[in-house]
Amino acid sequence: MNWLRSLLLPRQGSAYAGNVDNLFMFIVFLSVFFFTIVAGLIIWSVIRYRRKPGRKTPHITDHLGLELTWSIAPLVLVMGVFFWGVRNYMQAQVAPNEALEITVTAKKWVWAFEYPDGTRTLNEVHLPVNKPVRFIMTSEDVIHDFYVPEMRVKMDIVPNRYTELWFQPTTEGLYRLTCAEYCGKGHSDMMGKVYVDNGQKYQKWVEEGGDEWKTMPPLEYGKLLWESKGCSTCHSLDGTRMQGGGPSWRGIFGRMEKMGDGKEFMVDENYLRESILVPSAKVVAGYENIMPVFQGLLREREISALIQFIKAQK
Ligand code: CUA
Repeated sequence: MNWLRSLLLPRQGSAYAGNVDNLFMFIVFLSVFFFTIVAGLIIWSVIRYRRKPGRKTPHITDHLGLELTWSIAPLVLVMGVFFWGVRNYMQAQVAPNEALEITVTAKKWVWAFEYPDGTRTLNEVHLPVNKPVRFIMTSEDVIHDFYVPEMRVKMDIVPNRYTELWFQPTTEGLYRLTCAEYCGKGHSDMMGKVYVDNGQKYQKWVEEGGDEWKTMPPLEYGKLLWESKGCSTCHSLDGTRMQGGGPSWRGIFGRMEKMGDGKEFMVDENYLRESILVPSAKVVAGYENIMPVFQGLLREREISALIQFIKAQK
């Protein structure tokens, strides 16, 4: 039955995925089984009792045995599904004590992660294989939803409160994290990467601060960051102003700009740096102060790569 499961469902990335899939497949088979019986009986009756000259339709008022059977059998099956579901649900709720705890802050339209040792990442999270991990999540603006299909976990993230979920990854690899609650125009870009690494690789990542792009030239790295850190949802490269977004990066470097109060300034390295880290410091007239704060979320090399990339957009 594994081929059928892999046809219907994403690959299994966690121990929990097996539980979910077994119940899912059981319900699928149950439905197919009873659909066949019911549809078969209907077709058979239509043919068997079709109108024929001289035939009288039999008149049956009741059949106690039959009625009890089709009441009690579904009850037993549905109760079975119920308790199976409750067991799975409980498993999804209670994380083991030794779980690695990662804080998740969702905001339009990025995922920010913080590890117990203070390591912070944006739109990507690295996990050790076969270790339970618990995510404690909150939102800075609207409702988002943390969804990793391959782990079979999904939970709403609500402003002003914490929600959580946990899973234990069982297979190394790269998994997809998406937002499953419509949260504005950047919703479909609100994606992240979940890397499940073996112990050694994970340890190396922790020690090196997770910079896998160390050898990349700054311009390439800047482009990658533009895409992966969520800049591309608001800042175009072709000069168009994105709806509800910020200024295009094309030709922005070296330009004189005005703030709402009429003060002028030049877009140079220092202005870009300040605007990336604390966007509210100088907002260009005609734009809203809606960009998330990146202070503490970007490494020095990432900031300078971004600035170089912006400079190159002539
Ligand atoms: Cu966040 Cu949709």
